[in-house]
Amino acid sequence: MTWLITGGAGYIGAHVVRAMTEAGERAVVYDDLSTGVAERVPAGVPLVVGSVLDGERLTSAFAEHGVTGIVHLAGKKQVGESVERPLHYYRENVEGLRVLLDAAVSSGVAHFVFSSSASVYGMPDVDLVTEETPCLPMSPYGETKLAGEWLVRAVGRAHGLTTASLRYFNVAGAAAPELADTGVFNLVPMVFEKLTDGEAPRVFGADYPTPDGTCVRDYIHVVDIAEAHVATARRLASSAPGTDFVFNVGRGEGVSVREMTDLINAVTGYDTPAEVTSRRPGDPARVVASADRIAAELGWSAKRDVRDMVASAWAGWVRLHPGAGRGR
Ligand code: WQD
Repeated sequence: MTWLITGGAGYIGAHVVRAMTEAGERAVVYDDLSTGVAERVPAGVPLVVGSVLDGERLTSAFAEHGVTGIVHLAGKKQVGESVERPLHYYRENVEGLRVLLDAAVSSGVAHFVFSSSASVYGMPDVDLVTEETPCLPMSPYGETKLAGEWLVRAVGRAHGLTTASLRYFNVAGAAAPELADTGVFNLVPMVFEKLTDGEAPRVFGADYPTPDGTCVRDYIHVVDIAEAHVATARRLASSAPGTDFVFNVGRGEGVSVREMTDLINAVTGYDTPAEVTSRRPGDPARVVASADRIAAELGWSAKRDVRDMVASAWAGWVRLHPGAGRGR
């Protein structure tokens, strides 16, 4: 098997490449390097620089490298930006996926793993979100992920590919400092930034109907996410044509924003209490996965805890911000 990993120079993609090659699978990275970093691609793994909107380049990459399966992570992922630039998000995430699937079908690529997101659920009113919980995305970003899942499943069924959509919950952490997330768009790096700047981390609302009033999420280590891809890819490779799966990829454990800011202070050696500000529009109070289906089907479950996530993310942050930690 040779897997083409789109977005393989990105934060999550680079972890998937590493997990796949460590598991003995052949990987080829396909990335336009718009946010990806070529240095994240390990030695010995070919890097094809190209856009998922470029069907000819994809087709030639499939032929050149003998691609038998695709793990598709390339895409835009900022919720707020998607509200301002819906055309851009639909073009990159939905049209890019259509072009990629079209090329895959024409080239006889048999297996397809799609990066989806818990954002397909929107504001779920349940304790644990299962794959059967209704999908009501609240942003163009979430819509593109849900439309992507539908397209992947329809193409798989019509053309005999095996497919899986992986709904990631809140990803954090790193396998090594150089693989850490460089963006500052999520809770953990946003708290690191405030602490490093000598400011109080912000808690966006403490009046939610949750035990401590702050939002509850299901944080999952990026290495666990990467291992879920390996398990999924292997299952697809041994499944009947047209088989399709949808899996939540989370830990099934809720952690509040307050618990996270306390833990980040403890792990990084700071002691800067968080400051409560107003709610951020569109934030659901609680989004926690039931990860039972992927455990039952693939035998996968997360192994790493929130402390591992914060400690490994901090090592990456310090590498990028050498002054970090001095103001403690
Ligand atoms: C987590 C919680 C914030 C920063 C989004 C997407 C999702 C996925 C991951 C991409 C929320 C709170 C944050 C801060 C805070 N994206 N917060 N202070 O919104 O759960 O999920 O990112 O693939 O699809 O929707 O993640 O990390 O932004 O926020 O209080 O400085 O932390 O309000 O409750 P979110 P997040």
